[in-house]
Amino acid sequence: MNVLFVCLGNICRSPSAEGVFRHVLDSENLLQPVSVDSCGIGAWHVGKAPDLRAQAAAKLRGIDISALRARQLAPDDFARFDYVLAMDHDNLRAIRAMQPSDYPGHVGLLLDFAGHADAEVPDPYYGGEQGFEEVLDLIESASHGLLDHIRSAK
Ligand code: 4NP
Repeated sequence: MNVLFVCLGNICRSPSAEGVFRHVLDSENLLQPVSVDSCGIGAWHVGKAPDLRAQAAAKLRGIDISALRARQLAPDDFARFDYVLAMDHDNLRAIRAMQPSDYPGHVGLLLDFAGHADAEVPDPYYGGEQGFEEVLDLIESASHGLLDHIRSAK
C-alpha cells in the first residue's frame, strides 16, 4: 500500500503529514508494508527542505522531517500510489485535473479520515507558528483514521 500526501508547496503541510504518518506507522504492527511520500502542486520549492517552522513543530513532537525534499506531483504518481490525499480543495482540484480516468486508487481530502467531511488543513505559510501546531493536530487525528481505513481495506 502506498500513500502520497499533496499540498501546494510541499514544504509545510504535506511533508508534515508524511513525517507524522510514517511515525504512526512505525509504532504499529502492520501485516502489509505501507510506503509514504509527499509532493506539491507547484514547482516553486522543488528540491528544498521543509519550512524551518514545520521542521521545528514536528521536532517538538519527536518527528524529524529535515531530510525530506520537495518535489512536484507527476503523472506517474497515479501508477505508484493507492491513496493520493490532498490538504485542501485547491490541491484536490489540481490532482483531479491530472488523475487518469481509470485510476483505481483513492483521491480525496486527508481530513475525510478525521471525520471532518470537506474540511481542509489550512495553509500555514503566511501565518505564525501556531498555524503549524494546528496543522500537526489535524494531521495526527486524520492519520489514525487513515490507518484504520488501510487496515480494513487490506
Ligand atoms: P504548503 O505551504 O502548501 O503547506 O507547503 C505553502 C508553501 C509555499 C507556498 C504556499 C504554501 N508558496 O506560495 O510559496
